[in-house]
Amino acid sequence: MYKVCVTGAAGRVAQAFIPLLCNGSIFPDKKIILSLLDINNEPQIRELNGLKLELIDCNYPNLISVSSHTDPNEAFKDCDIIVFIGGFPRKPGMERKDLLKINSKIFTEQGLALKHAKEDVKCLVVANPCNTNAKIMYEVCKKNGIKINKENFTSLSRLDQDRAEGIYKEMYNKESANIFIWGNHSSNLFIDTIDESINKDIENNSNFLEKIQKRGAEIINVRGSSSTFSAAKAARNHLKDWCYGNEKIVSMGVVSNGDYDIPKDLVSSFPIKCTGNWKFEIVQGIELNDGKKTKIKKCVEDLQGEASEIVV
Ligand code: LMR
Repeated sequence: MYKVCVTGAAGRVAQAFIPLLCNGSIFPDKKIILSLLDINNEPQIRELNGLKLELIDCNYPNLISVSSHTDPNEAFKDCDIIVFIGGFPRKPGMERKDLLKINSKIFTEQGLALKHAKEDVKCLVVANPCNTNAKIMYEVCKKNGIKINKENFTSLSRLDQDRAEGIYKEMYNKESANIFIWGNHSSNLFIDTIDESINKDIENNSNFLEKIQKRGAEIINVRGSSSTFSAAKAARNHLKDWCYGNEKIVSMGVVSNGDYDIPKDLVSSFPIKCTGNWKFEIVQGIELNDGKKTKIKKCVEDLQGEASEIVV
């Protein structure tokens, strides 16, 4: 059984994610106690109340109970897993880092509230800028003596991997595997692969890279609001692989140990091997030519810029 909290539960991404959680698409062998968190505003509270009724009507076999909250200290109590979706969303013309000022307050407060979760709580940050929001919680916990392993703080770069694989298939009319993401979930993110033939296709195709880097903004411009079910599906893939393992290399934002010259304690996307039972390793020995190193450096500079703005 897992107690799972979903933040921003009244929002669109959460409402695309929650059915995946309750219908066994993520943890087929686990019952779920669901804790919903959103802000203390009338529209959000009404939405959560409606959502609770609908969840009963769905009669999901894996769902044991649902509670809703406006205080993270209550919502996180005894949680095994927290999916941080709640935050101010990006609007047309904004970069994800422009959300830092407003969303960093949420993550400072929620980082402190992690003291109520289980010590081994697994955190996945979806709300942007997701890497730096995860770093804020990691730093808040460290500073306040909240003992959660640094491996438990992760952020969502799987959306970039999944969309790169989908767009590759559309562009080249070929199935793809083993694309992975380095660095930040920003417009300088870098995509890579260890598959030689895919590498040939994408290494010098700046259109492909640019398409992935700007896909989030493209969706916002086309529909006026940001991605929904692709983000929910990517969060599902991240958690499923983290829990059960995956043969493939996958992308996860994790706290850097300094591997590949990505400075220690930044939360960056790396090529990851999930080995099951919530364990993972950063894949070592990936060869990076100078061109790739330069592109990775650029998105690491984004992460450093964001990190320099945070105060915990
Ligand atoms: C995305 O990449 O679609 C999301 O992170 C939303 C955004 O602001 O781009």
